Amino acid sequence: MIFISRGISYFCRNATGKLNMKIYTITISMKYSTFLIPILFFVSLTISSSCKGGDIPENPIVTDSVKPLRDMSPFPFGAAINITKIKTNTAYINTVKREFSSITAENAMKMVNLSPAKDQYSWTDADYLVNFAEENHMRIHGHCLVWHNSHTSWVSNYSGTKEEWKTLLKNYITTVVSRYKGRVASWDVVNEILLDDGTPRQTIWYNKIGWEYVALAFQTAHEADPNAVLFYNEYGQEYSKTKMKAINDTVKSLISRGVPINGIGLQMHTNINQSATNMVDAIQQTALTGLIIHVSELDIAVNRDKNSAYVLSTADLETQKSRYRSISAAMSLIPEAQNWGITTWGVSDNDSWLTSNPDYPLLFDKNYEPKICYDGVQEGFSVK
Ligand code: G3I
Repeated sequence: MIFISRGISYFCRNATGKLNMKIYTITISMKYSTFLIPILFFVSLTISSSCKGGDIPENPIVTDSVKPLRDMSPFPFGAAINITKIKTNTAYINTVKREFSSITAENAMKMVNLSPAKDQYSWTDADYLVNFAEENHMRIHGHCLVWHNSHTSWVSNYSGTKEEWKTLLKNYITTVVSRYKGRVASWDVVNEILLDDGTPRQTIWYNKIGWEYVALAFQTAHEADPNAVLFYNEYGQEYSKTKMKAINDTVKSLISRGVPINGIGLQMHTNINQSATNMVDAIQQTALTGLIIHVSELDIAVNRDKNSAYVLSTADLETQKSRYRSISAAMSLIPEAQNWGITTWGVSDNDSWLTSNPDYPLLFDKNYEPKICYDGVQEGFSVK
């Protein structure tokens, strides 16, 4: 009498993200296998339909679906990092180390934190993140050199001529970029410089220096680190065709004048009410510029209207999953040379800038457990 054992195990995540492992071991003797195997096949079919709530991905992924994003992703997969949690929160640190191949400072590398006073710099937190990235074999993306929303009062109160403002900006960019030369792979050189109607945002830099501040910022960053990949980072490509066209046209005109821009960042702070078509179109249209593209600040809100009484539902989590899958799939089709990857704006629903809305916009829940949208992203990787 010969015994053959068969083990069936697969993982699937129910809507709340809890991973169910189902293992069924059936021992059969050779004598009975001829008619038992078809029964066995029928049994596995019924088992697979036992995961309730639509959490079975089209192509059920067996065990290797829980391989970390950084191992499965065909492009760099990162997260924006909260400087306090990366120093203190074990679950946060372990999730970051396990899952991500790239990090961005959520706030630590902004002017408000790097230059608290004129010609004074505070490098502790930024150095900590750059060292952390290097120790964990991660890419670090610098965010951001020039933004209207990240400088301290010494800049707002600075009074100087246009040339003195240009010197101020050049000194800041040169000091920061040259400090991390060869260590920070890429920079958001300018962030959010256009309004939704496509016209220049009237920022302090625009008002003091004029539109030429954009070209000056890129030229200065390039001189400080000629190998750094330089991005114009912006939002709204997925909800405004007008803005998307203005962004891409602005970049083309700057490049035609010799401004060293290598890539465009699509922040994509979006939500489940936005169509997957618009999200995918934003990625594809931006890629048509021929530049490197980075989905740089991805989060998909389920409570877009910031309804304080919002209750998380399986249906919303399912929609969120399919939106993440669409974005991951679209990025999987972007040629490697143009693909700077996806960065989520935060690690878990516990540490998002949207958490207090309340909202649940990210791939990991408050216990740093992967949500079903995490599977959505993994499924998107295998789209050809
Ligand atoms: O660190 C101070 C703390 O000392 C102080 O006690 C506390 C109370 O005022 O403020 C803390 O600073 C806050 C900082 O986040 C760190 O938590 C700032 O007030 C707050 O404005 C800052 O918000 C950040 C915001 O950018 C403005 O810089 C968000 O965390 C960050 O997620 C958000 O990220 C931006 C991107 O950089 C650009 N694109 C949009 C995105 C979302 O707004």
